[in-house]
Amino acid sequence: MKKMVILTGAGISAESGLKTFRDSGGLWENYKIEHVATPEAWLKDKNLVLQFYNERRAQVLAVQPNQAHEALAKLESKYDLHIITQNVDDLHERAGSSKVMHLHGEILKMRSEKNSQQIVGVPNGVISLGDLAPDGGQYRPDIVWFGEEVPLMESASAIVAQADEVWVIGCSLQVYPAAGLVHHARDHVKVIYIDPNAVKVNRPNITVIKEKAGSVVPAMVEEYLNNG
Ligand code: OAD
Repeated sequence: MKKMVILTGAGISAESGLKTFRDSGGLWENYKIEHVATPEAWLKDKNLVLQFYNERRAQVLAVQPNQAHEALAKLESKYDLHIITQNVDDLHERAGSSKVMHLHGEILKMRSEKNSQQIVGVPNGVISLGDLAPDGGQYRPDIVWFGEEVPLMESASAIVAQADEVWVIGCSLQVYPAAGLVHHARDHVKVIYIDPNAVKVNRPNITVIKEKAGSVVPAMVEEYLNNG
């Protein structure tokens, strides 16, 4: 089976109604990264950080996968398909994709501030100050913050290095190390980058499609299922 790797970012969930980070009207226009998404922010004001992610979680729970998520799930019938996402939502899983790696963590999960190993679901969608893990640590969202290591990077780059084709969908490619993943694809491998504001990527065999995911991904998937 041909190995396909799909790298997704906030843009693929935009048409479900979730805000991206860096578009106009995006999340980082209303919040400062250093106030809500760093270990320092957590030490300074846990309540504010919990509230920020409680709101994000409520929005994730209120929306549905869109036709791009759904189309990608269908590709599994013909390809050995891995989705590597920077998104913390569960829309790929809800659409039916079975191999989804969340580089930046998962909003519906939490872990102790003292220990990153034991990850559990967030009961009732809310983490409050005083919700303690068995080790006595305050529960924090299972999110990789700026300044923290991305523990799955090594496995993700190994998967990309084995890909026969790579699609990059809805990623601004501004946040490293995730933005560098596409460069782990072998030179002869075809890369298709779908994003209305796609940035320049220096690598051979790249096709850029400056469109919204929902406008092109379903037709591409049909084409690949029928002819690819
Ligand atoms: P960004 O908000 O940086 O970029 C979203 C991208 O989606 C932009 O390039 C948009 O042009 C594109 N886009 C918008 N609507 C689209 C649509 N309908 N179809 C396709 N593309 C569309 O989001 P990410 O690149 O995912 O990390 O951001 C990476 C990381 O920065 C996130 O994982 C998050 C954030 O800070 C952490 O919080 C650690």
